[in-house]
Amino acid sequence: MPRIVAPSMLSADFGHLDRDTRMVDRSAAEWIHIDVMDGVFVPNISFGFPVLKAIRKASAKCLDVHLMIVEPERYAERFAETGADIVTFHYEATGDVRGCIDRIRRAGARAGISVKPATPVEVLRDILPLVDMVLVMSVEPGFGGQAFIPEALQKIAGVRAMARAQGLDTIIEVDGGISARNAGEIYAAGADVLVAGSSVFGAADPEAEIVRMLGA
Ligand code: DX5
Ligand code: ZN
Repeated sequence: MPRIVAPSMLSADFGHLDRDTRMVDRSAAEWIHIDVMDGVFVPNISFGFPVLKAIRKASAKCLDVHLMIVEPERYAERFAETGADIVTFHYEATGDVRGCIDRIRRAGARAGISVKPATPVEVLRDILPLVDMVLVMSVEPGFGGQAFIPEALQKIAGVRAMARAQGLDTIIEVDGGISARNAGEIYAAGADVLVAGSSVFGAADPEAEIVRMLGA
């Protein structure tokens, strides 16, 4: 799978959401990452359906929605119907992993599952055949601008090995603390999609930063 960058709209300027979405839309980034936080699963609240809808209107790119909410099965369908192409939820956030995957898929979106830094990727072994993507968190979910946790590199390799052993081409996404400076080693560890918030939107030239990440 070719390298993909997914700029995280959490770091966009919400006073100019349309402008920032259109910037990503014309950039070399193929996906747009959308962080939904409920203030319960994580100690922060971001945004929900109206913002997703506005981004959907401004871009035809793959909308990659990262749910950091408890009981994601309650809202999975609605996110898919509002325009998400991929809906990713946290393993730690639900007692019904399989039910949540079913709901996302039935609503027509691809399904992803994510693990926090302290959760070993081995918990996902039996779930891998049911999902399109695994999202390895390389920071504690909740906030942009944190430092990359290096242990994520072994976790990426672990997911890649588990997928290969089962004959699966599971997409591996990594999220948190990523810039052109460390993108090369994260792709090399086996990642397909790198999420980047503060490094892209904080760059003097965000489109050039995306190109630098892809070539890192
Ligand atoms: C954190 C979010 C990330 C965040 C990444 O909980 O899941 O997507 O936007 O931000 P940076 O790239 O600044 O670490
Ligand atoms: Zn995210």
